[in-house]
Amino acid sequence: EQIDKGDYEHFMLKEIHDQPTSIEDTFRGRISMDHSKIFLGGIFDVLPKLIEARRIIILACGTSWHAGLVSEYLFEEYARVPVEVEYASEFRYRKPLIYDDDVVIAISQSGETADTLAAIRMVREQSEATILGICNVAGSSISRETDAGVYTHAGIEIGVASTKAFTAQITVLTMMAFLLGHRKKHIADSDYVQMVKALTQVPEKMREILKHEGFIKDVANKYTNVTNALYLGRGVLYPVALEGALKLKEISYIHAEGYPAAEMKHGPIALIDENMPVFVLAIKDDSYEKIISNIQEVKARNGKVVAIVTEGEKTIRKIADDVIEIPGCHRALSPLLAVVPLQIISYQIAVMRGCNVDQPRNLAKSVTVE
Ligand code: G6P
Repeated sequence: EQIDKGDYEHFMLKEIHDQPTSIEDTFRGRISMDHSKIFLGGIFDVLPKLIEARRIIILACGTSWHAGLVSEYLFEEYARVPVEVEYASEFRYRKPLIYDDDVVIAISQSGETADTLAAIRMVREQSEATILGICNVAGSSISRETDAGVYTHAGIEIGVASTKAFTAQITVLTMMAFLLGHRKKHIADSDYVQMVKALTQVPEKMREILKHEGFIKDVANKYTNVTNALYLGRGVLYPVALEGALKLKEISYIHAEGYPAAEMKHGPIALIDENMPVFVLAIKDDSYEKIISNIQEVKARNGKVVAIVTEGEKTIRKIADDVIEIPGCHRALSPLLAVVPLQIISYQIAVMRGCNVDQPRNLAKSVTVE
């Protein structure tokens, strides 16, 4: 594989743009033409273990942990299995209860993160639990030490701030949750076909978002000099708020926090003033009305609201300072689309601030120390 920025100024920008194609690579050979089947060869033999799992424990660090958090919503809603998402570095130093009928999923782009690797070794020593890996780097330590797994096939990721590996991880986890939900008969055949089809339409919708990159850049331009930023989301978009905040702090060194929107009134609301941009993930779903009131709460305190909304949305457009539209999609798939404008905003702000986007200070692509 070519390690080349092509016409892009940075690897991170290239990798943001790679996403429609890298997600197609993640699907390749895994979804039937008529959308009625998902094949995940790497975990085929352990599917019975997943179907019978008492619980799924997800172990990861950094951005991979955020992908795990997204999947918690999907596994619980569609496959009706309890899920715990753990920082590998916390889990391994606790005295966690691990049952033999748990399924542990380690998520790691590099497959080499020391804490994640140590955590699965601990699981192995203490239990008979089935351990799966979701890695991007083939042949990596985690992929070798797990019982089975699914590669993300996102291609080599060079930018220290993860982008395409994140969306590929979510894609794999979404396929797993849908497959498991269908096998457990919590998703009806006809719904399954619709959901799988909707998943295959994500790359095209991402291309639509990327076409509006210039507009997103103009929005980012307004916020290059801020010192703090808040990211809010609810449900499956809450982990995307965390990821948006992480991207901004990693590469632009602006302090940023991601919060579940409803928790804002238990703390972060005290920080809001006219200098504080609040990025709100406000797509049309079950919590749309609630998120509108969250936006009103920010505006009442003179905060600046940048809302990521569903195409054609009219109400938020009237109250937010800036609105970025994304195409409508199945709610379960919204993290894959909603994260893209946040990646672009962080990238543009960091470039405008003259930061070293691909190699931010103090950070490493793969953390192999404990
Ligand atoms: C580092 C990287 C992050 C990454 C995290 C976990 O902090 O800078 O981008 O999310 O490690 O890495 P992994 O390879 O396990 O996904």
